[in-house]
Amino acid sequence: MAETIVLERRGRVAWITLNRPQALNALNEQVMLEVTATLLELDRDEAIGCSVLTGSAKAFAAGADIREMQPQSFAEMFGTDWIGGWDAMTRVRKPVIAAVAGYALGGGCEVAMMCDIVLAADTAKFGQPEIKLGVIPGMGATQRLTRLIGKSRAMELFLTGRMMDAAEAERLGLATRVVPAGELEAETMKLAEAIAAMPLQAVLMMKEAVNRSFETPLHEGLLFERRLFQSAFATEDRTEGMTAFVEKRAPVWKHR
Ligand code: CAA
Repeated sequence: MAETIVLERRGRVAWITLNRPQALNALNEQVMLEVTATLLELDRDEAIGCSVLTGSAKAFAAGADIREMQPQSFAEMFGTDWIGGWDAMTRVRKPVIAAVAGYALGGGCEVAMMCDIVLAADTAKFGQPEIKLGVIPGMGATQRLTRLIGKSRAMELFLTGRMMDAAEAERLGLATRVVPAGELEAETMKLAEAIAAMPLQAVLMMKEAVNRSFETPLHEGLLFERRLFQSAFATEDRTEGMTAFVEKRAPVWKHR
């Protein structure tokens, strides 16, 4: 039974809320284990087509738990490979949307970047303040944020630790869209429901192909994409999708 998150099933959408309000949803081993175990479990749940990860109005997540880290030595961090397993959510195959209001700092921003789409409330504040703690990001920001927004912009954010507001995050491509805070939930549900209604096998292929672009040289990625595209012709929903188009009717998906 998860203690640090709340899972709600809203039709075909799984709505996961980080729930450590006393620490602005700071991330520790338990939170990350519960988030990743839940998302991986939902991958096996036929009733669910898309997940949403969100926080509170004040904080998506204010970073890794500093109180937990403060007494740790190098030997303990290195010996336990601390945070080594926290990127398990990158193994989740179904789409995950980050719905961000308030602070998404440090590990919070990094978790949002591990999601597939970031939707931001106009109250969202993103940043990597680790420099102010005498460390650097540890959950992927130096790699993912740099690729997303470019070296110069990422470097400025890392080296000053300053926050960026939602409008800047959207302009730089970190967030797909900014919506008024009061509409974040409804807008996210709309997006999640639209994705969850799509043919699942094509959804999984799409996510795999896009993520491959971060891992491989272009020609390998293009080959991977083409092979998946061709593989889609083995699915019933490819037949249905194209037949429905030709017959001028709405498709009825078999696998969602
Ligand atoms: N870890 C542990 N506790 C945290 C926390 C964190 N990352 N962020 C906030 N909290 C706690 C505070 O200690 C406080 O607890 P108490 O009420 O018991 O004192 C509570 O949450 C509320 O926080 P504030 O009183 O500070 O709230 P505020 O509105 O004045 O400020 C804030 C909000 C600007 C987000 C501020 O809390 C802050 O700067 N937090 C730390 C942000 C940060 O440095 N994150 C990076 C962490 S390192 C990291 O993530 C490394 C990595 O890459 C893996």
